[in-house]
Amino acid sequence: MFDPDLLADKHILITGGGSGLGLDMTARFAELGATVSICGRTPEKLESAQKEILSRSKNGKVFTHAADIRDYEAVENMVANLESQGGLINGLVNNAAGNFLAASEDLSPNAFKAVVDIVLTGSFNCSKIVGSRLIEREEQGSILNIVTTYTQTGCAFVLPSACAKAGVEAMTNSLAYEWGTYGIRVNAIAPGPFPTEGAWSRLMPDEKSEQAYKSRIPSGRYGEKWELSNLAAFVISDLAPYMTGSTIPIDGAERLNAGQFNFIAQLAPRDQLKQMFQQMKSKSSK
Ligand code: HXC
Repeated sequence: MFDPDLLADKHILITGGGSGLGLDMTARFAELGATVSICGRTPEKLESAQKEILSRSKNGKVFTHAADIRDYEAVENMVANLESQGGLINGLVNNAAGNFLAASEDLSPNAFKAVVDIVLTGSFNCSKIVGSRLIEREEQGSILNIVTTYTQTGCAFVLPSACAKAGVEAMTNSLAYEWGTYGIRVNAIAPGPFPTEGAWSRLMPDEKSEQAYKSRIPSGRYGEKWELSNLAAFVISDLAPYMTGSTIPIDGAERLNAGQFNFIAQLAPRDQLKQMFQQMKSKSSK
């Protein structure tokens, strides 16, 4: 579907690009011709990710910079360093996240702050610094924020993440409007269940929970990394020039469990449910 040079004129910075979904998106962008830069807190992780990306794109241009995106000055230095190597950054994926399961009444102030600072402040720092450099140089760009499907509903036991990701979605819409005049598009993707080691080790307590979770997904399976990466490539590319201020869910319809009677789907096999509906129909029509 994609031209192999789709992203050839892009230098894309992917935060948290050293592992998980961020790494796969980065590798896909490089396959499609982008110069890519990744950042994270652990230099060794970035080095091994760089090797993996280059194994998928032999002639790819991949730059790394270890930094904590919570630190504004560190992000300024990082962006200047990466641009000195790969040219002006005209694509940004705010992907880095922090999350864990905890009862909200047990959260320490620092635990709340740790997640909000990575997700919300980190996304602000990167967007503000990359965006202002684009505006200064009168260049267009594309920002993609990775949020979640629970920005709209809230979510138990992940309060800091729910608050922070909802903030990032508000930032998506705010900047899309404000920076539309500069030709900077700002969109978000809301992935549902895409298991990665980083997320599942923090969010999936045991096998039983995993079964319960899987049964909530109407598509009957988890998402695969390539599915998210292709969507991300499309959204960040010039194939979607009129798309801005959009949040696109990709979740096998898992978020629609909010529907009041959806639980019935899990009560019995479908043929039994249909019989039950028939019985109810005949009773109610009398
Ligand atoms: C309660 C916890 C905790 C836990 C840490 N804390 N883990 N509290 N339950 N499981 C508390 C600590 O006690 C401390 O508070 C405070 O949080 C900061 O912890 P540190 O370890 O000092 O902070 P830091 O090294 O900055 O680590 C940040 C982190 C960590 C968020 C806590 O987990 C991290 O770096 N995560 C990055 C990767 C990640 O989380 N990936 C998953 C993203 S998945 P005190 O008071 O003791 O000082 C995702 C997908 C969402 O977002 C969608 C799913 C479907």
